[in-house]
Amino acid sequence: MSTPSRLSLTQAPPISVPLRFFFTAPFFGILAALVQINAGPDAVSQWTPTTLAITHLLTLGYISMVMIGAMSQILPVVAGSPLPRPLLVSSVVHTLLTLGVLALASGLLFGRGEAVLIAMFLLGAGLTVFIGAAAYSLILANADNATVSGMRVAIVALAITVVFGLRVAAEHVLHLDLPIAKSWTHAHLTWGFIGWVGILVISVAYEVVPMFQMTPKYPQWMQRWMTKMILVGLLFWTSVYLLAIIDSTIWNILTLLLSFYLAIGLSVFAGVTLYLQSQRQRRIADLTLKFWRLAMVSLLLCTSLWVVGQFWPSLGNWRNIGYLNGMLFIFGFAVSVIIGMLYKIIPFLVWLHLQRQNTRRIKLPNMKEIIPEQRIRWHFVLHLMLLPLLAGVAIKPVWFVYPAATLFGISSLLLLFNIFTALRIYQGYYTSM
Ligand code: HEM
Repeated sequence: MSTPSRLSLTQAPPISVPLRFFFTAPFFGILAALVQINAGPDAVSQWTPTTLAITHLLTLGYISMVMIGAMSQILPVVAGSPLPRPLLVSSVVHTLLTLGVLALASGLLFGRGEAVLIAMFLLGAGLTVFIGAAAYSLILANADNATVSGMRVAIVALAITVVFGLRVAAEHVLHLDLPIAKSWTHAHLTWGFIGWVGILVISVAYEVVPMFQMTPKYPQWMQRWMTKMILVGLLFWTSVYLLAIIDSTIWNILTLLLSFYLAIGLSVFAGVTLYLQSQRQRRIADLTLKFWRLAMVSLLLCTSLWVVGQFWPSLGNWRNIGYLNGMLFIFGFAVSVIIGMLYKIIPFLVWLHLQRQNTRRIKLPNMKEIIPEQRIRWHFVLHLMLLPLLAGVAIKPVWFVYPAATLFGISSLLLLFNIFTALRIYQGYYTSM
């Protein structure tokens, strides 16, 4: 295989680079919960303005926000190649992304074309700066391992997601009274979910699952091929799906087969991860492990539900199947991985940066004192309780929408509190050094 990565912590960017993204994400979680509480059960369905707005508060404001922050940190460490001008790039990207998500969500929620137009500029510019900077750093990367090559694929997928996103956003600006051509939206959300979020999680998993969870390494064939095979599958699927120049029976069969291929790819990743976790050397249950396990089970549920829906028409044609699958992917898979990772990364970053400044050799807190384990356990319990409630929202919105949204609001508030207290600890020690 490729050359192994050497974790070069000396190249890590200033702590404010990743932390600004991590600190902002829970605010978008709280906002998404408030929007859902305000809209109530009637807004629960896949294409309502509320769902479109909440989807982007979560996919861009929460998930991509953390993923971009994490990449700014991971690139120098795992790829040995920092983002160029990290402080400037992260300030620009963070500001444009934050304002862009607010503009997009409000434009979609209130049907305001001008807000969507502003969002197109802000998000288009912000994400282009990030994609450009990350691509530059990934091209120059001297380590060439599975995580680095997977991140290259994820950046390509993000670029395609943005292009399709701008395409559907332009329809909202120009033809507010016409139904949107949903094939472009499907292409956009498939690249966003499977390409950007899915592939980035897979690439990062190769490095962090064995390291943090003390599991055996992922199989070589998987590290070498999986992300590339998913990319090829996505490219084929998109060409067939969007071009639609072939006879419709062949088109139906081809798109279905390619979708199965993608679902199998994600399921294999989830299955192998669960298997590796069952083989770990250390038997003590770790909370990051629990978050990751939950994420993998949710991913398996999500792909299985989709596959079963293809054979069982009463499930496949159920009005809220897309909604339920989206919830499973966003909250069950992506948000679980993110919370689990943040509780590993933030205490480590605080500790690492204090350690570096510590010229007077004062006694530093250990990582478990920076975010106490008990609070992470509470967060895990809240998050675990949320998932069945979300399934309930898809089945019986009137009963479940308020408890689920309130619980997610509280969960985001707890995340914010935990990040805030970690920052206070950092500042307290930093000023006394
Ligand atoms: C520049 C960034 C983006 C823009 C401008 C954008 C814009 C849009 C627009 C206008 C729609 C509505 C399409 C319609 O009415 O049919 C949409 C749908 C959607 N987008 Fe995005 N988007 C962006 C990024 C993302 C990302 C990064 C993700 C996922 C990681 C994502 C996931 C989705 C999903 C899941 C839907 C469908 C929501 C539903 O089913 O109700 N978007 N996007």
